Amino acid sequence: MSPELDLQGLAGSAGHEPDGSRAVEPVELTVGELLLRPWHEDDAEAVWAAAQDPVMRQWHGVESRTLDGARARLARLADWSTGDHCSWAVEDAGVLVGSVSLHELDHDQAEGETGYWTVAAARGRGIAVRTADAVCRWGFSTLGLDRVQLFHAVENVASGRVAAKAGFTLEGRPAGRTATPTA
Ligand SMILES: CC(C)(COP(=O)(O)OP(=O)(O)OC[C@H]1O[C@@H](n2cnc3c(N)ncnc32)[C@H](O)[C@@H]1OP(=O)(O)O)[C@@H](O)C(=O)NCCC(=O)NCCS
Repeated sequence: MSPELDLQGLAGSAGHEPDGSRAVEPVELTVGELLLRPWHEDDAEAVWAAAQDPVMRQWHGVESRTLDGARARLARLADWSTGDHCSWAVEDAGVLVGSVSLHELDHDQAEGETGYWTVAAARGRGIAVRTADAVCRWGFSTLGLDRVQLFHAVENVASGRVAAKAGFTLEGRPAGRTATPTA
């Protein structure tokens, strides 16, 4: 299956000059009862467990489906020194409930992308909407971003709903893009 992707973009209003430096200091953010914190390699088992969920298997990448893959992924996500991403684990009372990120950061163009997933047991609480909204606002105000894009498969209705509720507007379907997950 190669669903087309909708491209949804939200123009920011921060109006800050982009920071020319690339390194981004890891930060924690609080969103209501949720703690957004940088990833640790010892989150690997929880990420691996989350990745076994059928919805995750349909729409999330394949790397975290093995424990070694999850460890390798978290080693990259925990390292913000490249400056091209800010990746957070989402915790509720010390329990991992999801993931949210700003990635593909281009500081010169003042733009980036966002992405998210929520563990099956924590869905339907607005976690994805609230955390996506929070990190975009943080990106606008702190990183000086002017624009954050979000890509989702047309068939991924839940993700489209999250995007709309977080304030993204549909811009179109980029030609030639396919969804990354495989069956
Ligand atoms: C997409 C995903 C992050 C949503 O997580 P969530 O925490 O349940 O999202 P929220 O609670 O913030 O909002 C979900 C919204 O989508 C709606 N929704 C959830 N599942 C849905 C479905 N299968 N069909 C239609 N709408 C759906 C909910 O009703 C809610 O909207 P509402 O408040 O108007 O009722 C979650 O399903 C997930 O992790 N999916 C797998 C990974 C993924 O697809 N990531 C995005 C890749 S682009």
